[in-house]
Amino acid sequence: MFVKLKSAFVFGINAYGVEVEVDSSKGLPAFVIVGLADNAIKESKERVRSALLNSSIPFKATRLTVNLSPADVKKEGSQFDLPIAIAIAIVNGVEISKNLEEFLFAAELSLDGKLRPVSGILPISIHAKKHNLNLVVAKENAYEASLAKASIYAFDNLSQVLGFLNGYVDAKLYEANIVFEKVDYEVDFSEIKGQHRAIRAALIAVSGFHNIMLIGPPGTGKSMLAQRIPTIMPPMSEEEIIETTKIYSVAGLSKGSVITKRPFRAPHHTASDISLIGGGADAKPGEISLAHNGVLFLDELPEFKRNVIEVLRQPLENGYINVSRAKFTVNYPANFMLIGAANPCPCGYYGSKVKKCTCSFDQIRRYRSKISGPFLDRIDLYVEMPEIDYDIIQAESTYTSYDLMQKVIEAREFQKNRFFEEKIKTNSQLTPRLIKKYCKLDFQAEQTLKQAMKVLHFSARSYTKVLKVARTIADLAKSDIILDSHIKEAISYRYVEN
Ligand SMILES: Nc1ncnc2c1ncn2[C@@H]1O[C@H](COP(=O)(O)OP(=O)(O)OP(=O)(O)O)[C@@H](O)[C@H]1O
Ligand SMILES: [Mg+2]
Repeated sequence: MFVKLKSAFVFGINAYGVEVEVDSSKGLPAFVIVGLADNAIKESKERVRSALLNSSIPFKATRLTVNLSPADVKKEGSQFDLPIAIAIAIVNGVEISKNLEEFLFAAELSLDGKLRPVSGILPISIHAKKHNLNLVVAKENAYEASLAKASIYAFDNLSQVLGFLNGYVDAKLYEANIVFEKVDYEVDFSEIKGQHRAIRAALIAVSGFHNIMLIGPPGTGKSMLAQRIPTIMPPMSEEEIIETTKIYSVAGLSKGSVITKRPFRAPHHTASDISLIGGGADAKPGEISLAHNGVLFLDELPEFKRNVIEVLRQPLENGYINVSRAKFTVNYPANFMLIGAANPCPCGYYGSKVKKCTCSFDQIRRYRSKISGPFLDRIDLYVEMPEIDYDIIQAESTYTSYDLMQKVIEAREFQKNRFFEEKIKTNSQLTPRLIKKYCKLDFQAEQTLKQAMKVLHFSARSYTKVLKVARTIADLAKSDIILDSHIKEAISYRYVEN
């Protein structure tokens, strides 16, 4: 006897259909799985056998062959447990009244027959929706799966699923109440005292989606500020929520929930390039993809290895990363805002009012050259965060995350309207051609920029960065033309190389 059921496997952040075919024939008792299955799938045999026996479903000693079709694509995941078990139950005589063609099954089985959640359920659910299939999942997966608006049936165990398929158990479609609107962060900008200049730079950076570097002695609030950046980014759109949740889903990190908060990822400076960009044996997404639509914070940035920083080049330019595996490449989204933090020198106290710097001139120069070289290309704003006085710590704070976010939203709206016929959304994406088109300066601003280029020895790179940042500053002021004050402020966020 032959039974065929539908399931799906995940590749990158998308799911593709799989037909699970089970054939039972006479001959020496055997149970084989074919069709380029990975080890997790091969282990499925033991789980399925126990789950069936513990659900009081006969498991006759026949020759069972399971084929996962298409057979030429490598598949992974434990979601085939459920369709394999159902198909075996059917070939062993369990009756079904529902039309199996209308269902997609994806759940792991525990030995006692319980349905367990699997990673990648959101892409699988999107696939089910696209092909108009009812998705059958473990209860813990239902909420996340419902984000795709597919028809979902969620169950506790295998007996219930079989009962539902033969009409003895009545099951309702799973209905989730996903709330997108209000997101509460545990931290807020109002907790930051003083540091007005850094807060202003953060506002500009988020408004134009510019990468930013915070420089200052220990304990001045660099990490504190970075952690609060997601709280002033505009709320995630539904599309962004789905994209980000898909990444967490395939990484096995969504834990059945939906990602509505902007991610904040802070890998340690000893992190390897694989953990940062993704890959390895299972080609899972790395930190930069987990930061998609949010923030990647590289604290103590000069300490990161050069090769690690080098691999950031592609995602910073394109917003995605190609992760190589043995025979193929997986593509993961990785569009994040980069925030770097560094001390001004190796001991941390160069320019400090509180403590004397113990570094030699040469040490400082070497340390700074680490920041400048590979990073200059990628960072639009540099801001110093000095030590703050006691009175400031005591003072009331001026900025709340909510107020700052409103300004960001307005500045983003201004950019969106301007770029309505372009492919870009924010000023950080301006190309030289678009800079020419959209960064118009008034006479005085032009004079200032010319002068600054001469005196500060701006490179062509600095010149474009100043214009991009000035464009965002003008957007915050709702000005179509870049004025002198805008250009002056933008120049003040350039890194002065020693
Ligand atoms: N501007 C500030 N307003 C309020 N609290 C602050 C401020 N700066 C620092 N703090 C307090 O000091 C603690 C340490 O700050 P934070 O970790 O952000 O410093 P840092 O600049 O990242 O230092 P390091 O260079 O050592 O990493 C914060 O958790 C906070 O309690
Ligand atoms: Mg810190």
